[in-house]
Amino acid sequence: MEKRAELYRGKAKTVYTTDDPNLLILQFRNDTSAFDGERIDQLARKGMVNNKFNHFIMNKLEAAGIPTQVEALLSDEESLVKKLDMIPVECVVRNRAAGSLVRRLGVEEGKVFDKPTFEFFLKNDALHDPMVNEYHIEAFGWATAEQIAGMKQLTFKVNEVLKALFDDAGLVLVDFKLEFGLDADGNIVLGDEFSPDGCRLWDKETNEKMDKDRFRQGLGGVVEAYEAVANRLGVPL
Ligand code: C5P
Repeated sequence: MEKRAELYRGKAKTVYTTDDPNLLILQFRNDTSAFDGERIDQLARKGMVNNKFNHFIMNKLEAAGIPTQVEALLSDEESLVKKLDMIPVECVVRNRAAGSLVRRLGVEEGKVFDKPTFEFFLKNDALHDPMVNEYHIEAFGWATAEQIAGMKQLTFKVNEVLKALFDDAGLVLVDFKLEFGLDADGNIVLGDEFSPDGCRLWDKETNEKMDKDRFRQGLGGVVEAYEAVANRLGVPL
């Protein structure tokens, strides 16, 4: 597989074309950003940890019947993935209150929900990723009603699979964000990444934060926490 041109440089990953038009290379960088890119830092080993973490989780999801874009781990910081036509919304599921939900609704951080909540956000840094609903998504043509239903169904399924996986590792999956795209046949496929950059994980016993909130809140030990999570799950680093 030959790496060709840089297609897109995001805040933490770079996407490259390959000699196969249906395959791309994702490079996970050490860059870590928060507050819509207002704060950016370099965290040694983060690219490698997130790449391997993502590969491990995506394989678990595939095994549970969730279609993902992941094809192969290529190197410490690179993965081969299927090219998708990305849907520009983020799907967020929450099992407990944290982050923007706490700020928006004034609920206590850590409140356990009877059933998970679901929110869509538009991917748009300039607008600070505003929350949107299904009517907006259809009206603006970002996805069809059927695709919206598919994204919701898959996101809830991911929640069930990963809640159990993290629970076995002594961790609470508080919330997470997923992004989907369409493959060449128009099927909805899980894209982007699943890593501690895009979810909240708390230690079951101590409630210690072991995710990107350590960076957002200046708690330190960011990559060390990601590595501890990976070790507990048995991710080979
Ligand atoms: O900030 P908020 O509480 O809405 O985030 C919910 C979840 O989605 C968190 O796990 C956060 O890490 C993730 N997220 C993300 N990328 C964004 C916004 C949120 O990965 N742009």
